[in-house]
Amino acid sequence: MRVAQVSAANGPFELVERERPNPGPNSVRVAVDACGVCHSDTLTKTGAWPGIVLPRVPGHEVIGRVDAVGPGVEGWKVGQRVGVGWHGGYCGRCDPCRRGQFFACVTGPPVTGISHDGGYGDYMIAPVTSLARVPDGLSATDAAPLMCAGVTTFNALRNSGARSGDLVAVHGLGGLGHLGVQFAAKMGFQTVAVARGADKAPLALSLGADRYIDSTVENPASALAAMGGARVVLATVTDSEAMSAMIGALGVEGSLLVVGAPPAPLAVSAFALIGGQRRVQGWYSGVSIDSEDTLAFSVRTGVRSMNEVLPLARASEAYDRMMSGKARFRVVLTPRGE
Ligand SMILES: NC(=O)c1ccc[n+]([C@@H]2O[C@H](COP(=O)([O-])OP(=O)(O)OC[C@H]3O[C@@H](n4cnc5c(N)ncnc54)[C@H](OP(=O)(O)O)[C@@H]3O)[C@@H](O)[C@H]2O)c1
Ligand SMILES: [Zn+2]
Repeated sequence: MRVAQVSAANGPFELVERERPNPGPNSVRVAVDACGVCHSDTLTKTGAWPGIVLPRVPGHEVIGRVDAVGPGVEGWKVGQRVGVGWHGGYCGRCDPCRRGQFFACVTGPPVTGISHDGGYGDYMIAPVTSLARVPDGLSATDAAPLMCAGVTTFNALRNSGARSGDLVAVHGLGGLGHLGVQFAAKMGFQTVAVARGADKAPLALSLGADRYIDSTVENPASALAAMGGARVVLATVTDSEAMSAMIGALGVEGSLLVVGAPPAPLAVSAFALIGGQRRVQGWYSGVSIDSEDTLAFSVRTGVRSMNEVLPLARASEAYDRMMSGKARFRVVLTPRGE
């Protein structure tokens, strides 16, 4: 099989042949049909994830079919369509798991494309606890970005405390943001998209935003404050200064919901937090059942990722395209040339 691996921090993607691996206990081999390219793949590409062992194959927005099952696997059949996301499984036995906080599993938790090889390849091995069922109504390329960009924004918004009609801003219109705008609109929020550049305005409105704010010509915090202040700002950008400035967009008891992961720390005024009892909260993707909810919601409501599709052999170009900010909006790799 072919994989696109990274074997040195900041090194190039290498397209190499490997033996097709056999699944161990409670794991399956997945024949990959599509894998989205997420900004978090930088953590593999740059070697920035603490303790990451290279070479490693990135990719945590995977849609494929079960190709082989390991010992002890129940409930998953060869040929079945599956999705694999960022959250690469959990033990189910530690205290956080027993409380349903699977994201905080003390085993790590394993992360697809970081602790073990991901979906930039013809095949990958996945623990069964990371597998989501995929509805028939979604093609592999439609479904792949929903396995991270989708579930992260859907899950963050549905747990945000915002109610129908509340003012919700989505900051950043990349892979996560363009799905976040669609989910926010379909969930019945008054949805404002905030991004850089006039060219994104018609796209934002076509995705369901009630209003688009171009942060290169208008101060988005002031504009949102003038609208009454946002109940939630879903922050998907990769720049900490831009994200920090959105504290000023929040209304009383508003939340800055941090899903974007800028490397530099956020700077937040204590007075802004205290004065309006505002919050800054992080949100960590979701587990496989959250992905299944995301896929089902997307089928039902018509939320779809806008994709640029490239074959696996062009993984390097796909990654560069994502990093350039020019992709509209998600780049998806297709090992089988879909
Ligand atoms: N919490 C989680 O579980 C989770 C899950 C997935 C991803 N993430 C993180 O979420 C972030 C977004 O991922 P993605 O795949 O959506 O990335 P992406 O497609 O590359 O989009 C990044 C976005 O950041 C914006 N941006 C970058 N620099 C900016 C600046 N200086 N000012 C304003 N906006 C700026 C870009 O806007 P322009 O188009 O204007 O450049 C773009 O909208 C990444 O940090 C990723 O690691 C977190
Ligand atoms: Zn991701």
